[in-house]
Amino acid sequence: MSENNNNPAALVTGGATRLGLAFAMSLAQRGYDIAIHYHSSKDSAERVAKDIESLGVFCQVFQADLSCDQPGDLVKQVTDHFPRLELLINSASAYEAASIANTSLELLQQQFSVNFFAPFILTKAFAKKCKNGAVINILDNKIEFQQNDYAAYLLSKKTLAEFTRLAAIEYAPNIRINGIAPGVVLPGEERTEDYVSWRIENIPLQQQGSVEDLLRAMNFLIDSEFVTGQIITVDGGENINHQGNHAEMFNKSHS
Ligand SMILES: NC(=O)c1ccc[n+]([C@@H]2O[C@H](COP(=O)([O-])OP(=O)(O)OC[C@H]3O[C@@H](n4cnc5c(N)ncnc54)[C@H](OP(=O)(O)O)[C@@H]3O)[C@@H](O)[C@H]2O)c1
Repeated sequence: MSENNNNPAALVTGGATRLGLAFAMSLAQRGYDIAIHYHSSKDSAERVAKDIESLGVFCQVFQADLSCDQPGDLVKQVTDHFPRLELLINSASAYEAASIANTSLELLQQQFSVNFFAPFILTKAFAKKCKNGAVINILDNKIEFQQNDYAAYLLSKKTLAEFTRLAAIEYAPNIRINGIAPGVVLPGEERTEDYVSWRIENIPLQQQGSVEDLLRAMNFLIDSEFVTGQIITVDGGENINHQGNHAEMFNKSHS
């Protein structure tokens, strides 16, 4: 496969595993050449690259630790390979549970480095290098909640949501910047079936989301030239289910 074809290219951070991998494969099926960023999943990144090339597009892997490396360098490396870079998917993420009282400065910096500083710097570098294009930041439906047990993670994603709106203004009209906030789609391996069922109890649409639900949101944002600064929450309505306590609930539970 030649790098000198006329395909547009997409950079997917965290593209070697799980949701990032699904975004990358789907974009390859749409005809994008793919730059897979990975941190530690080298073997998986190389396997994914082979699978992507079997779809008839070009794929290259790029390693970077987004908690300490210069994310701007990643964009330069990618555009050296793919001058037609047109899409950036910020999917890489660090996820550590800790209340405010248990959050050290080191943990705060680590969560913010991967989940906010890196997408910030990548977006800035992308907008400087690419004349036209789109950025999609992968958020979390938890940005609508106050879950202090995930203080640093949550604050980093809430900040990224605000950045999505701010950057959409600064980089319009040439670069559109949007976000997707998933709910329960692909829980970590440590999550049990009981945990997922318990989460679904509080989801109005009474189901777990699928990877395809997220891919539909991604494709909508790519295709919608009149949409910027928006966050699509794909969570079965979990984020709107904030009823709070009220008198009727009190009466029922105390009768
Ligand atoms: N899964 C869900 O249901 C769900 C729900 C809500 C929100 N989300 C959001 O959706 C996105 C993808 O979710 P996921 O579950 O696929 O994520 P994940 O399994 O937690 O990890 C995503 C990627 O982040 C990369 N990463 C972690 N630390 C890094 C570092 N220091 N430098 C560079 N890369 C690093 C990993 O790369 P390596 O493996 O190469 O180290 C991995 O591929 C995330 O932004 C997440 O917050 C997911």
